[in-house]
Amino acid sequence: MRTPIIAGNWKMHKTIGEATEMVRKLEELVADSSVEVVICAPFTSLSSLSALGLNKVKLGAQNMFFADQGAYTGEISAAMLLDAGCEYVILGHSERREIFKEDDELINKKVLKALEAGLKPILCVGETLKQRKAGETEKVVVEQTTKGLAGVSPEQISQVVIAYEPIWAIGTGETSDGNDANQVIAAIRQAAAELFNPELAGQVRIQYGGSVKPGNVKEFMDQPEIDGALVGGASLNAEDFVGIINY
Ligand code: 13P
Repeated sequence: MRTPIIAGNWKMHKTIGEATEMVRKLEELVADSSVEVVICAPFTSLSSLSALGLNKVKLGAQNMFFADQGAYTGEISAAMLLDAGCEYVILGHSERREIFKEDDELINKKVLKALEAGLKPILCVGETLKQRKAGETEKVVVEQTTKGLAGVSPEQISQVVIAYEPIWAIGTGETSDGNDANQVIAAIRQAAAELFNPELAGQVRIQYGGSVKPGNVKEFMDQPEIDGALVGGASLNAEDFVGIINY
């Protein structure tokens, strides 16, 4: 049984005050949920959120660098994220790939470092509209999955969460339909089975992301291969995010 995991990716939103106000509310509203709830907040808010002494809501970051320390201006290490109270870290988000030119090789180094340090990576994969139209969706996500997970050990793989986020569905209000997303996620799981084995691949939680809202989340969560959601815009507001968590 894979425990559903619903994560909010706040991207570059919320000051410390705004972040603590919302997480305080969320912690009360979802206290009894059987779903694992994660907030991936900006770096600046993480230690303040951790200081709230959260019981239910878990914390994640949105990126990290693979080196332990050194002259890497502007970067954040795995140890720093653990120190700030993180359990998860989003890696390879399409915005990092597209805007900041991160490639599979760099993302793989980050995945390996996160796991070595004891952080759980949320590895994002997904195709562009052009790739979808060219019929390349499965090929693209399988390649991103295989390269992103290179060198991960059988002992580590159950710690990894994968998020399938079709790029054309992010922030656009367009979504993949449940069946389609299920099929792509099945291909991702198959890629993990080829890297490891079907039993280990069966333990990996794979989320759908891209314009998930209270009104469409059930369509995804009802699918047998989909184990959760990675939510952008609708995670910024407690009412919407709770509506998603209580699908
Ligand atoms: P939206 O939910 O705003 O489409 O964002 C999805 C996303 O990128 C989450 O990582």
